[in-house]
Amino acid sequence: MAEATETWRRQADDHLLRHMEDMTETSRHPLDIYARGEGCYIYDSEGKRYLDAISALFCVEIGYSYGDEIAEAAAAQLRDIGYHPVWGSTHPRAIELASVIADLAPEGLNHVLFSSGGGESVEAALKLAVQYHQLRGEHRWKAVGRETAWHGSGLGPLGFMGIPQFRTPFEHLIPRVMHVRNAKRYGRPAAETEEEFTAFLLDDLEYRIRTEDPSTIAMMLIEPVQLHGGVIVPPKGYSEGVRAICDKYGILLVADETITGWGRCGEWFASTRYDMQPDMITTAKGITSAHAPLGAVILSDRVFDTFNDAGVQINHGVTFAGHPLSCAIALKNIEIIKRLGLPQHVRANEVDLRARLDRLFDAFDIVKNISGTGYYYGVELAQAFEDGTPFTDADTERFLGTEALAYPLLDAGVFMRLSMDNGDPVLCIAPPLVAGPDEFDVLFAALEAVLTPINAAFLAGPR
Ligand SMILES: Cc1ncc(COP(=O)(O)O)c(C=O)c1O
Repeated sequence: MAEATETWRRQADDHLLRHMEDMTETSRHPLDIYARGEGCYIYDSEGKRYLDAISALFCVEIGYSYGDEIAEAAAAQLRDIGYHPVWGSTHPRAIELASVIADLAPEGLNHVLFSSGGGESVEAALKLAVQYHQLRGEHRWKAVGRETAWHGSGLGPLGFMGIPQFRTPFEHLIPRVMHVRNAKRYGRPAAETEEEFTAFLLDDLEYRIRTEDPSTIAMMLIEPVQLHGGVIVPPKGYSEGVRAICDKYGILLVADETITGWGRCGEWFASTRYDMQPDMITTAKGITSAHAPLGAVILSDRVFDTFNDAGVQINHGVTFAGHPLSCAIALKNIEIIKRLGLPQHVRANEVDLRARLDRLFDAFDIVKNISGTGYYYGVELAQAFEDGTPFTDADTERFLGTEALAYPLLDAGVFMRLSMDNGDPVLCIAPPLVAGPDEFDVLFAALEAVLTPINAAFLAGPR
């Protein structure tokens, strides 16, 4: 092992706290350190290559080969002016980027408030929603989110957290959000039609809103395609139905496009693909392909006009929001996405990706469901044997544990994630948008190799 790796691991153990990580794991397994990237691949500090099948954290849309071009844009910006806020006055890149975003956003969403990340965008959207209603003479402070959803881990977005174990310890400190059913169809009665499922979800939503008193609810937040729970795509009629219910009760509809924006779902924004017509969009991640921290809230004319007509300020101010460096990088990133035609590239290749996933489903009994769209999929694995016997903890470890799945995938040269939130074991697939059939070959060869022995043990039944 290279000396540098050894030193870094020791220093990390002594000083570096990793997010969402059980630190006792570190003593059992050496820490992975990724030092370099190229195309859709990342290299660890020992030089081993891995296909990045989840765009790091669902964010490196252009992959890892545009560092030089991005660096030039960043350097030019730093030479011009290293920092100026978007607070009162502003700087050129923020203005240019806001215009570019307004051009790409769904119709009627034309006004951009920058933030420094996804969670902060959600928090800003909630504040905007509360203030919007105040300006219209209403006191509304609650919100609606969906079960199993993740919208950030700060105290504001934590209210929307649909995974109870992450939310409940902080509940008294966070905004009041009720969680309604997500749109996951897997596990519903086989005889239920898509239309019936949609009606069931909308009934649940309206019932929950009415029992909570609609006049107290400021906004509803949903991802057009929800990551946690299985990369959940809305059933037919759902988006329109949610929009109608929000309109009926004067609730603002906010689309969290932190992951789904910037081409991931084959459009600049998934709201367009699923006809959500939101009042606001929150976004981050792919806006810079994660080459610098940046987030944004995109407001509809209706919401913006309420502030403008009242002549009041937006009560949200953050030093690093809309940082010139990040805005310059976002402009270059968007230019690259356009030049490469990545939303179109995703649309052209998604059929191939889906077909390969369907073959995986046919080949492996332990694969129970495939869900997603564009370059964004969940492969849901079993939680019980074929006769219905639920897995014991030992079975879960045997089939889904790190030693069974995550490490063999890494050994096979693929970096990806098994999400176990709320007990739903879902392998997430979200490669950089520049990926194509060659990368799919690598990914599916690894998945087949790793799933083959697990599947055989699964079919053999309980020990
Ligand atoms: C849908 C969604 N919203 C918000 C966030 C929070 O973004 P950030 O980590 O930049 O605060 C995430 C993070 O993964 C997310 O997936």
